[in-house]
Amino acid sequence: MLFNKELSKIKPYQPGKPIEEVRRILRLKEVYKLASNEIPFVPTYIKNSILKELKNINRYPQSDCFYLRKIVAKKFNILPEQIIFGNGSDEIITLCVRAFINRGDEVIVAYPTFLIYEIQAKIGGARIVQVPLKNFKYDLNGMLNKITSRTKIIFIANPDNPTGTYVNEEEVSNFLKKIGNNILVFFDEAYSEFAPQDFPNTSQFLKKKSNIIFTRTFSKIYGLAGLRIGYGITSKKIAFILNKVREPFNVNRFAQIAAIEALKNNAFLKKVLSYIKKEKNYLYEQLKILNINFIESATNFVLINLKDAKSFSNYLLKKGIIVRELSSWGLRGFIRVTVGKHKENRLFIEHLKNYLARFEGG
Ligand SMILES: Cc1ncc(COP(=O)(O)O)c(C=O)c1O
Repeated sequence: MLFNKELSKIKPYQPGKPIEEVRRILRLKEVYKLASNEIPFVPTYIKNSILKELKNINRYPQSDCFYLRKIVAKKFNILPEQIIFGNGSDEIITLCVRAFINRGDEVIVAYPTFLIYEIQAKIGGARIVQVPLKNFKYDLNGMLNKITSRTKIIFIANPDNPTGTYVNEEEVSNFLKKIGNNILVFFDEAYSEFAPQDFPNTSQFLKKKSNIIFTRTFSKIYGLAGLRIGYGITSKKIAFILNKVREPFNVNRFAQIAAIEALKNNAFLKKVLSYIKKEKNYLYEQLKILNINFIESATNFVLINLKDAKSFSNYLLKKGIIVRELSSWGLRGFIRVTVGKHKENRLFIEHLKNYLARFEGG
């Protein structure tokens, strides 16, 4: 076979439809995207720094993200050598598979969860061991029970996508006590900034246990998804190994500059956090009034249980609202809706009401 035979087992990842595509194909003027868990605000305060950086675009970016690295190290009180930067935090997943997996090794993932772990691990030739969620939450004990001598990586989305649930400090602490030194535990913390107080402080665990990595992203609360930048924090030794399998210029100039600005701007972060909280509560209240089940979320999206999920998401698309229908993730009868601006959330609820009245006689 000419190509990597593992690829025959993989379906390409289907991202949320872009606004531009829906506008073009459905000939709609107003399109709202509540499908990829981005925030609904543009961090325009980075504009001047981005414009200033234009004069350097004929030169490659810094390979080691030198200035950004210093700021992140200070934020977590760790050594700069403990950080690995990626073209989005997605890339850190790829790098870990590349660096840790030999053909036939086992990777433990939840089911369902963020699909990239499984896709990347399969490409790397790993055997995937799935552990079903328990009551929409990661079953950490179930994961421990699946460990064998071939287990190399355990992926934990915390908080999880698409459920929005999380495992807390105590649960993670108990879990880590039972993990040996020959397994990498990968905590994907893309939505951690939205999570409650008892969310684990993973950098503290890292002080006692070196075979942990946790990732953060600038794509969610910082509003920089279009620039593609994220990072992983781990032991010096693992970061050194991951650096070997990294493309030398994987993080572009604008992304580095914007991320530095973002980490300096606490006010933006606070504003986003309180806006999302308020709007998430608005969605909860409205769903309760409509008697629709949903999962309480530690993120900026909500998993909603609807008998007609597929037909409702098609109905919404025609009205210009993009949400995520989750049957391809193994969650038939569910949609995931990103918390948007109030106008978008209100429109979503109005369409939901109209849909229920028209198609379900509600
Ligand atoms: C759980 C989870 N991890 C990682 C990512 C990817 O983030 P990034 O944009 O940093 O690659 C996403 C994006 O939706 C996500 O939901």
